[in-house]
Amino acid sequence: MKVITSILLTLFLCGLFPVVAISAKGSEPVMNLIRELGCKGCHMIYGKGSSLATDLTEVGSRLTAAQIEEFLSADPATRTKDFMPSYSSLSREERQLISEYLYNLH
Ligand code: HEC
Repeated sequence: MKVITSILLTLFLCGLFPVVAISAKGSEPVMNLIRELGCKGCHMIYGKGSSLATDLTEVGSRLTAAQIEEFLSADPATRTKDFMPSYSSLSREERQLISEYLYNLH
């Protein structure tokens, strides 16, 4: 009986832990931000969105978090394809949140 209880407890904790880990990382607010800003109107993230621009799921293998952050606030005139707007009106914290999130997707 004791063994069964500890197996059940382990299974329960294993199932629970990733959920706790994800919410601790704060992926919820960042997903809301990405949705509100309309990034997926041009980009794909985990198979959802548009393919007008690059798939952002793998962007962390191309750019560092700092480069992504810089890219977000860059003047559109400096972009190769200039139809991505500048997100310089976001706070530094918001840009960091998005950049860290995207960087850690790969
Ligand atoms: C209107 C379309 C559009 C929207 C909206 C848009 N992007 Fe982009 N994005 C682009 C285009 C086009 C490029 C390629 C720019 C270039 O080549 O210089 C790009 C490039 C990027 C890159 C560099 C990707 C790489 O592989 O080098 C990142 C990171 C990025 N976008 C993030 C975002 C985020 C985050 C948002 C939302 C806050 C967003 N984009 C919204 C069109 C868009």
